[in-house]
Amino acid sequence: MFTKLREKILSKEILSSKIKRIIILDSVDSTNNYGQLLDSPLDATVVIANNQTKGKGRDGREWKSFDEKNIAVSMILNYPKSNDYIGLMSILTANSVIETLEMFDLNPRAKWPNDILINSKKISGILSEAVFKNNKAKSLIVGVGINVNCNLSDFFVDNFDYRIDPTSLLLEKNSIFSREDIIVSFLENFFKWVDEFKCKNFETILDFWLSRWDEIGKNVSIVKNGKNINGKIYNLNIKGELILYVDNEEVVVNSGEILA
Ligand code: BTN
Repeated sequence: MFTKLREKILSKEILSSKIKRIIILDSVDSTNNYGQLLDSPLDATVVIANNQTKGKGRDGREWKSFDEKNIAVSMILNYPKSNDYIGLMSILTANSVIETLEMFDLNPRAKWPNDILINSKKISGILSEAVFKNNKAKSLIVGVGINVNCNLSDFFVDNFDYRIDPTSLLLEKNSIFSREDIIVSFLENFFKWVDEFKCKNFETILDFWLSRWDEIGKNVSIVKNGKNINGKIYNLNIKGELILYVDNEEVVVNSGEILA
Protein backbone atom coordinates (compact mmCIF):
# COMPACT_ATOMS: atom_id res chain seq x y z
CA MET A 1 0.00 0.00 0.00
CA PHE A 2 1.11 3.58 -0.44
CA THR A 3 2.30 5.16 2.80
CA LYS A 4 3.79 8.57 2.07
CA LEU A 5 2.44 9.20 -1.42
CA ARG A 6 0.13 12.13 -0.64
CA GLU A 7 2.87 13.90 1.36
CA LYS A 8 5.44 13.28 -1.37
CA ILE A 9 3.11 14.68 -4.04
CA LEU A 10 2.22 17.74 -2.00
CA SER A 11 5.87 18.43 -1.15
CA LYS A 12 6.48 19.36 -4.80
CA GLU A 13 5.52 22.95 -5.45
CA ILE A 14 4.32 22.43 -9.01
CA LEU A 15 2.05 19.59 -7.85
CA SER A 16 0.60 21.30 -4.80
CA SER A 17 -0.29 24.28 -6.98
CA LYS A 18 -1.79 22.31 -9.88
CA ILE A 19 -3.54 19.37 -8.18
CA LYS A 20 -6.75 20.30 -6.36
CA ARG A 21 -7.73 16.81 -5.27
CA ILE A 22 -5.75 13.58 -4.77
CA ILE A 23 -7.72 10.34 -4.42
CA ILE A 24 -5.65 7.31 -3.36
CA LEU A 25 -7.57 4.03 -3.44
CA ASP A 26 -6.55 0.62 -2.21
CA SER A 27 -8.50 -1.18 -4.91
CA VAL A 28 -10.82 -0.07 -7.69
CA ASP A 29 -12.07 -1.54 -10.95
CA SER A 30 -10.42 1.19 -13.01
CA THR A 31 -9.08 4.62 -12.08
CA ASN A 32 -10.52 5.96 -15.36
CA ASN A 33 -13.98 4.62 -14.47
CA TYR A 34 -13.68 6.14 -11.01
CA GLY A 35 -12.82 9.50 -12.59
CA GLN A 36 -15.79 9.30 -14.92
CA LEU A 37 -18.18 8.90 -11.98
CA LEU A 38 -16.94 12.02 -10.18
CA ASP A 39 -19.47 14.80 -10.29
CA SER A 40 -17.94 18.11 -11.48
CA PRO A 41 -14.31 17.05 -10.77
CA LEU A 42 -11.90 19.82 -9.92
CA ASP A 43 -9.05 20.56 -12.33
CA ALA A 44 -6.81 18.80 -11.68
CA THR A 45 -7.97 15.71 -9.84
CA VAL A 46 -5.62 12.72 -9.63
CA VAL A 47 -6.87 9.19 -8.92
CA ILE A 48 -4.26 6.59 -7.96
CA ALA A 49 -4.93 2.94 -7.20
CA ASN A 50 -2.80 0.44 -5.34
CA ASN A 51 -4.57 -2.22 -7.38
CA GLN A 52 -7.03 -2.26 -10.29
CA THR A 53 -9.38 -5.21 -10.63
CA LYS A 54 -10.65 -4.39 -14.13
CA GLY A 55 -8.17 -2.03 -15.72
CA LYS A 56 -9.12 -0.86 -19.19
CA GLY A 57 -6.83 -0.76 -22.21
CA ARG A 58 -7.57 0.81 -25.58
CA ASP A 59 -10.08 -0.77 -27.96
CA GLY A 60 -11.93 -2.54 -25.16
CA ARG A 61 -8.90 -4.60 -24.13
CA GLU A 62 -8.08 -5.43 -20.53
CA TRP A 63 -5.10 -3.81 -18.81
CA LYS A 64 -3.36 -5.92 -16.18
CA SER A 65 -2.25 -4.03 -13.07
CA PHE A 66 -1.09 -6.72 -10.60
CA ASP A 67 -1.69 -6.01 -6.93
CA GLU A 68 0.83 -3.58 -5.42
CA LYS A 69 3.32 -4.02 -8.26
CA ASN A 70 2.42 -1.51 -10.96
CA ILE A 71 1.17 2.03 -11.36
CA ALA A 72 -2.39 2.94 -12.27
CA VAL A 73 -3.08 6.67 -12.26
CA SER A 74 -5.66 8.90 -13.91
CA MET A 75 -5.53 12.67 -14.21
CA ILE A 76 -8.81 14.52 -14.66
CA LEU A 77 -8.54 17.89 -16.36
CA ASN A 78 -10.90 20.48 -17.74
CA TYR A 79 -8.56 20.68 -20.74
CA PRO A 80 -8.37 20.73 -23.72
CA LYS A 81 -10.99 23.27 -24.64
CA SER A 82 -11.06 22.06 -28.23
CA ASN A 83 -11.74 18.45 -29.26
CA ASP A 84 -8.96 18.85 -31.85
CA TYR A 85 -6.33 18.65 -29.14
CA ILE A 86 -7.37 15.48 -27.33
CA GLY A 87 -4.74 13.50 -29.28
CA LEU A 88 -2.04 15.96 -28.31
CA MET A 89 -2.92 15.47 -24.64
CA SER A 90 -2.10 11.77 -25.06
CA ILE A 91 1.15 12.71 -26.79
CA LEU A 92 2.19 14.97 -23.93
CA THR A 93 1.28 12.22 -21.47
CA ALA A 94 3.55 9.82 -23.36
CA ASN A 95 6.28 12.47 -23.17
CA SER A 96 5.84 12.56 -19.40
CA VAL A 97 6.18 8.78 -19.08
CA ILE A 98 9.19 8.77 -21.39
CA GLU A 99 10.92 11.55 -19.44
CA THR A 100 10.26 9.73 -16.18
CA LEU A 101 11.72 6.47 -17.46
CA GLU A 102 14.73 8.32 -18.85
CA MET A 103 15.32 9.74 -15.36
CA PHE A 104 15.64 6.12 -14.24
CA ASP A 105 18.28 5.55 -16.89
CA LEU A 106 16.13 3.67 -19.39
CA ASN A 107 15.78 4.20 -23.14
CA PRO A 108 12.03 4.29 -23.81
CA ARG A 109 10.63 4.67 -27.33
CA ALA A 110 7.22 5.88 -28.46
CA LYS A 111 4.91 3.67 -30.50
CA TRP A 112 1.87 5.18 -32.18
CA PRO A 113 -0.73 5.83 -30.97
CA ASN A 114 -0.05 5.63 -27.26
CA ASP A 115 2.42 2.99 -26.21
CA ILE A 116 5.81 3.27 -24.59
CA LEU A 117 8.28 0.49 -25.30
CA ILE A 118 11.66 -0.56 -23.98
CA ASN A 119 13.65 -2.97 -26.11
CA SER A 120 10.49 -3.41 -28.25
CA LYS A 121 8.43 -4.51 -25.24
CA LYS A 122 5.58 -2.55 -23.73
CA ILE A 123 6.20 -0.92 -20.36
CA SER A 124 3.39 1.61 -20.36
CA GLY A 125 0.06 2.40 -22.00
CA ILE A 126 -2.23 5.42 -22.02
CA LEU A 127 -6.00 5.58 -22.26
CA SER A 128 -7.49 9.06 -22.71
CA GLU A 129 -11.25 9.34 -22.39
CA ALA A 130 -13.14 12.59 -22.91
CA VAL A 131 -16.40 13.32 -21.17
CA PHE A 132 -18.53 15.21 -23.70
CA LYS A 133 -21.33 17.70 -23.19
CA ASN A 134 -23.08 19.09 -26.28
CA ASN A 135 -20.39 17.50 -28.45
CA LYS A 136 -17.59 19.36 -26.67
CA ALA A 137 -15.05 17.81 -24.35
CA LYS A 138 -16.09 18.90 -20.85
CA SER A 139 -13.29 17.07 -19.12
CA LEU A 140 -10.56 14.69 -20.07
CA ILE A 141 -9.51 11.61 -18.12
CA VAL A 142 -5.98 10.57 -18.94
CA GLY A 143 -5.18 7.12 -17.56
CA VAL A 144 -1.64 5.80 -17.38
CA GLY A 145 -0.45 2.33 -16.54
CA ILE A 146 3.25 1.68 -15.92
CA ASN A 147 4.66 -1.77 -15.27
CA VAL A 148 7.05 -1.38 -12.35
CA ASN A 149 7.79 -4.37 -10.14
CA CYS A 150 6.21 -7.33 -11.88
CA ASN A 151 8.23 -10.19 -13.23
CA LEU A 152 7.62 -12.57 -16.10
CA SER A 153 5.66 -15.07 -14.03
CA ASP A 154 3.24 -12.29 -12.98
CA PHE A 155 2.64 -11.27 -16.58
CA PHE A 156 1.86 -14.74 -17.83
CA VAL A 157 0.02 -16.16 -14.82
CA ASP A 158 -3.30 -16.73 -16.62
CA ASN A 159 -2.12 -17.06 -20.24
CA PHE A 160 -3.13 -13.49 -20.93
CA ASP A 161 -2.80 -12.68 -24.61
CA TYR A 162 -0.61 -9.58 -24.93
CA ARG A 163 -0.69 -7.72 -28.25
CA ILE A 164 2.90 -6.58 -27.60
CA ASP A 165 5.18 -8.50 -25.23
CA PRO A 166 5.23 -6.74 -21.84
CA THR A 167 8.16 -5.61 -19.74
CA SER A 168 8.65 -3.76 -16.44
CA LEU A 169 11.26 -1.62 -14.70
CA LEU A 170 12.16 -4.66 -12.62
CA LEU A 171 12.78 -6.78 -15.72
CA GLU A 172 14.79 -4.06 -17.46
CA LYS A 173 16.89 -2.99 -14.48
CA ASN A 174 16.86 -6.05 -12.27
CA SER A 175 15.88 -4.10 -9.18
CA ILE A 176 12.75 -3.14 -7.27
CA PHE A 177 11.57 0.46 -7.68
CA SER A 178 9.52 2.74 -5.45
CA ARG A 179 6.17 3.25 -7.13
CA GLU A 180 5.69 6.39 -5.04
CA ASP A 181 8.86 8.02 -6.42
CA ILE A 182 7.93 7.14 -9.97
CA ILE A 183 4.39 8.52 -9.57
CA VAL A 184 5.75 11.79 -8.18
CA SER A 185 8.29 12.16 -11.02
CA PHE A 186 5.66 11.31 -13.59
CA LEU A 187 3.16 13.85 -12.21
CA GLU A 188 5.82 16.57 -12.11
CA ASN A 189 6.67 15.89 -15.74
CA PHE A 190 3.01 15.68 -16.71
CA PHE A 191 2.05 19.06 -15.25
CA LYS A 192 5.14 20.64 -16.78
CA TRP A 193 4.00 19.38 -20.21
CA VAL A 194 0.43 20.57 -19.52
CA ASP A 195 1.90 24.02 -18.96
CA GLU A 196 3.59 23.80 -22.38
CA PHE A 197 0.20 22.91 -23.79
CA LYS A 198 -1.50 25.84 -22.07
CA CYS A 199 1.21 28.12 -23.51
CA LYS A 200 0.33 26.65 -26.94
CA ASN A 201 3.84 25.24 -27.41
CA PHE A 202 2.36 22.43 -29.48
CA GLU A 203 5.42 21.95 -31.68
CA THR A 204 7.64 21.51 -28.61
CA ILE A 205 5.33 18.75 -27.38
CA LEU A 206 5.26 17.03 -30.76
CA ASP A 207 9.02 17.37 -31.36
CA PHE A 208 9.88 15.63 -28.08
CA TRP A 209 7.63 12.70 -29.00
CA LEU A 210 8.97 12.54 -32.57
CA SER A 211 12.54 12.40 -31.27
CA ARG A 212 11.65 9.16 -29.46
CA TRP A 213 9.76 7.61 -32.38
CA ASP A 214 11.32 4.99 -34.68
CA GLU A 215 8.41 4.14 -36.97
CA ILE A 216 8.81 6.83 -39.68
CA GLY A 217 9.35 5.29 -43.11
CA LYS A 218 8.11 1.85 -42.07
CA ASN A 219 5.68 -0.08 -44.22
CA VAL A 220 2.87 -1.01 -41.91
CA SER A 221 -0.54 -2.48 -41.69
CA ILE A 222 -2.96 -0.57 -39.46
CA VAL A 223 -6.09 -2.13 -38.04
CA LYS A 224 -8.88 0.37 -37.75
CA ASN A 225 -12.45 -0.69 -36.94
CA GLY A 226 -11.61 -4.23 -38.01
CA LYS A 227 -10.21 -3.12 -41.40
CA ASN A 228 -6.58 -3.16 -42.49
CA ILE A 229 -4.93 -0.12 -44.06
CA ASN A 230 -1.52 -0.79 -45.66
CA GLY A 231 0.88 2.06 -46.17
CA LYS A 232 4.19 3.75 -45.36
CA ILE A 233 4.44 5.94 -42.26
CA TYR A 234 5.21 9.51 -43.25
CA ASN A 235 4.67 11.59 -40.11
CA LEU A 236 2.46 12.61 -37.23
CA ASN A 237 0.37 15.79 -37.31
CA ILE A 238 -0.30 18.23 -34.49
CA LYS A 239 -3.49 16.38 -33.54
CA GLY A 240 -1.46 13.24 -32.90
CA GLU A 241 -2.86 11.64 -36.06
CA LEU A 242 -0.74 9.36 -38.20
CA ILE A 243 0.00 10.43 -41.77
CA LEU A 244 0.44 7.45 -44.07
CA TYR A 245 1.29 7.14 -47.74
CA VAL A 246 -1.19 4.73 -49.27
CA ASP A 247 -0.85 4.23 -53.04
CA ASN A 248 1.09 7.54 -53.29
CA GLU A 249 -1.60 9.49 -51.51
CA GLU A 250 -1.58 10.93 -48.00
CA VAL A 251 -4.07 9.28 -45.70
CA VAL A 252 -4.65 10.57 -42.18
CA VAL A 253 -5.44 7.93 -39.57
CA ASN A 254 -6.75 9.21 -36.26
CA SER A 255 -6.94 5.91 -34.39
CA GLY A 256 -6.07 2.27 -34.77
CA GLU A 257 -3.20 -0.06 -34.02
CA ILE A 258 -0.02 -0.62 -36.00
CA LEU A 259 0.61 -4.29 -36.55
CA ALA A 260 4.23 -5.04 -35.75
C1 BTN B 1 -3.40 0.55 -23.41
O1 BTN B 1 -2.20 0.49 -23.62
O2 BTN B 1 -4.21 -0.17 -24.00
C2 BTN B 1 -3.91 1.56 -22.41
C3 BTN B 1 -3.66 1.13 -20.99
C4 BTN B 1 -4.12 2.15 -19.97
C5 BTN B 1 -4.09 1.60 -18.58
C6 BTN B 1 -4.38 2.66 -17.54
S1 BTN B 1 -4.10 2.09 -15.90
C7 BTN B 1 -4.84 3.54 -15.27
C8 BTN B 1 -6.04 3.82 -16.14
N1 BTN B 1 -7.19 3.08 -15.68
C9 BTN B 1 -7.59 2.16 -16.57
O3 BTN B 1 -8.54 1.38 -16.41
N2 BTN B 1 -6.80 2.20 -17.65
C10 BTN B 1 -5.79 3.23 -17.53
